[in-house]
Amino acid sequence: MKIPTELINYLKKASRVAVLTGAGISAESGLKTFRDSQDGHWAKYRPEDLATPEAFARDPKLVWDWYTMRRNKVAEASPNSGHFALVELERLIPHFTLITQNVDGYHRQAGSKNVLELHGNIQKVKCYDGCGVVEDWDEDDNIPRCPKCGAYLRPDVVWFGESLPLDALEKAHQATLESQAFLSIGTSGLVQPAASLAHTARQKGAIVAEINLDPTPLTPHVDFALHGKSGEILPQLVEEVWG
Ligand code: OAD
Ligand code: ZN
Repeated sequence: MKIPTELINYLKKASRVAVLTGAGISAESGLKTFRDSQDGHWAKYRPEDLATPEAFARDPKLVWDWYTMRRNKVAEASPNSGHFALVELERLIPHFTLITQNVDGYHRQAGSKNVLELHGNIQKVKCYDGCGVVEDWDEDDNIPRCPKCGAYLRPDVVWFGESLPLDALEKAHQATLESQAFLSIGTSGLVQPAASLAHTARQKGAIVAEINLDPTPLTPHVDFALHGKSGEILPQLVEEVWG
């Protein structure tokens, strides 16, 4: 892939960079994306049956088992060269913020520090009744109970219809407003509010680059669209800009 010289030159000078990642960055680790028409989670299941508070209220075991399956996949696989290239980026750029919609925890596992997990983390559980208990997810086939109030524990992820963690969202917004360059990586750009961040960056004058296998609804609005695998393009980008 030929990375445009203009993008390389711009990134060389940028001191404030914000990055948004989605399921596509973990695809090369072997994790399914959501909207791949053949193989994505939402090709097989309806989100409202598995990823809503109502679904958990209706059939907690079904939801629990699906998240257990996903969590086991996350535990069996590991971060890939795309995640590691972003660790490198953080070392090279003075003000670097990594905003992710992924719940796999791979960015931190790879070594990224300033990570904002907008949709939570699948390795953790929290009290379904919202009493405040959050803990690590233990191996358990049955749905565990909250040690404080006795309600079910549920995955510490954001479900459809729920609000995003306010602190992470505000920091993501702030980093986006201040960014000189914004990279949208491996996300279909269909889920709000994450999807609007790239537009916010653009309005504030940042250059926006997209790295994705395929065009997305964001593609017509970006300054640079790099089509290919993030696990290949990101290491190449780091090498060409800072190598
Ligand atoms: P999607 O499944 O919607 O999009 C994944 C994107 O990654 C697609 O645009 C693919 O073309 C792209 N892609 C696939 N493999 C890639 C690769 N190797 N390199 C680069 N790009 C690749 O996933 P998200 O955009 O993350 O929310 O979805 C956003 C949210 O919707 C998720 O966090 C989840 C989902 O429903 C909740 O569960 C609340
Ligand atoms: Zn509780």
